[in-house]
Amino acid sequence: MAKAFYLTTPLYYVNASPHIGHSYTEVAADCLARWRRLKGGEVFLLTGTDEHGQKIEQAAAAVNQKPQEFVDSVVQRFKELWKLLDISYDDFIRTTEPRHVRIVQHCLAKLHDEQKLFHTAYDGWYCTPCETFWTPEELRGVKVEAGEMTCGTCGRGVEKVKEEGWYLPLRQHQDWLRGFLKHHPAFIRPQTRFNEIEALLEQPLPEYLCITRPRQRVGWGIPVPFSAQHVTYVWFDALLNYISAAGYGADAARFGALWPADVHVIGKDILRHHAVYWPIILHALGLPDAQMPGMIFAHGWWKIGEQKMSKSLGNIVDPSVVVRQFLKHQPYAADVYRYFLLREVPFGQDGVFSEEAILTRLNADLANDLGNLVNRALSMLERYAQGRVPALAAVGCAVEDEPLRQEALALAEQVERAMQALNFSQALDAIMALVSHANRYIESQAPWQLAKTSAARLQAVLSVLAEVLRIAAILLEPFMPSVSAAIWEQLGLGTTPRRLADTTRWPGLTPGQPLGKRDVLFPK
Ligand code: MSP
Repeated sequence: MAKAFYLTTPLYYVNASPHIGHSYTEVAADCLARWRRLKGGEVFLLTGTDEHGQKIEQAAAAVNQKPQEFVDSVVQRFKELWKLLDISYDDFIRTTEPRHVRIVQHCLAKLHDEQKLFHTAYDGWYCTPCETFWTPEELRGVKVEAGEMTCGTCGRGVEKVKEEGWYLPLRQHQDWLRGFLKHHPAFIRPQTRFNEIEALLEQPLPEYLCITRPRQRVGWGIPVPFSAQHVTYVWFDALLNYISAAGYGADAARFGALWPADVHVIGKDILRHHAVYWPIILHALGLPDAQMPGMIFAHGWWKIGEQKMSKSLGNIVDPSVVVRQFLKHQPYAADVYRYFLLREVPFGQDGVFSEEAILTRLNADLANDLGNLVNRALSMLERYAQGRVPALAAVGCAVEDEPLRQEALALAEQVERAMQALNFSQALDAIMALVSHANRYIESQAPWQLAKTSAARLQAVLSVLAEVLRIAAILLEPFMPSVSAAIWEQLGLGTTPRRLADTTRWPGLTPGQPLGKRDVLFPK
């Protein structure tokens, strides 16, 4: 079986409902998966939820529920949101599922049997919201009056925890990891994140990573097969999902068809876990360099004003409220939201979220540019070409048509370059540049004048516009799947598949073919 392009999202904590930060990673990964499918070939998009650990245990206790009952209800909100946002995942893994629990225990037992784990005690600063131990240098500092340390990542208080447990050596693998990075310069993207990890590895890593928690303190975790007093540390548990879902230790054919992951899409808050702990875990399990993930892409944060969105700051934005209420007059509200997330900031940088910013994108790019083009082109095709694809054969392309035709034919290559770098905003920029060009073309060619002077030229111009719409619809699919399908429908292409290969064909439409029913995509 040929290997699929395998990409993953983080497993989101189910201690609370999903917010725009979660939806950002999810939409980006979905867009990349759809892009790869458009190109042809097998693609496998994995997502899911991280359901163990102290903070989930605490969240369940706060509403008087058993952890399992609590996570079973919260996971539904994630699944509903992914449905609303048209996320085309191939598998959804929950860390409480037996197929995952079994593999985590298998990995623990294997490391233990091979004497790769140590039993010792450790003393450190623990951040429960991040479920992570930090070194004193990594902490933001001391709040003098309270005498409290705060977490460098989320800004919340950390506690001093002294714990005995089972430890995986980190420093032992440090030289290997440094060498691996040297030979795999695209392992961490964007470059700034690569540099960050490279710099981190210039200092000695902590000697060990604690991969268990005492059961008497944290009850909600995967039992450690060789120690009744411990459960598995939630990050060790969660990271292993990328291989447990791929069939590691259970289904060799599936594992061969999926692993290694081509891209792990994550946010920059969890870079260290993915770029340091994860390859070290895989290395300790005995996976060779060729079986390491291809790329870890860490995107930026959505902020509200100057602040990162977070539950403790009370500035959480719920994507389903944005889609269902704020954009309720839009027939393609989920696509408007997807477009905004992918277009507004280059992937990798931070962005500021606001409803005004969504409205600006909706009005300027979608309604005035794309919607306007579709509407004008199709209404002229209806009026001047009897609602059918014009016959082009006898006319050919005139010099006035060439720049637009060339731009349309070269667009896929431009989008490909941007998508190679997960630069979604640049890809959309190129597509929208074609859309603007086509609108200017309508102005300069003035079909309404040609209707009075040259019937042949009029048909040629309309045919160019229909072809441009066809190409734009195909390339918009990964970003706005429903809008793309709607344009396709209006072109009368119904169930014909959209394929990247067809973007370099001209003409690609069949003369005489009836167009579909017209519809306004982005009503004002
Ligand atoms: N459960 C861990 C991940 C385990 S992966 C094996 C976790 N979960 S999380 O629910 O906190 O989600 C983290 C991810 O959500 C981030 O990495 C990022 O992808 C996304 N975001 C959460 N807040 C965000 C913003 N404010 N902005 C953008 N994305 C952020 O960490």
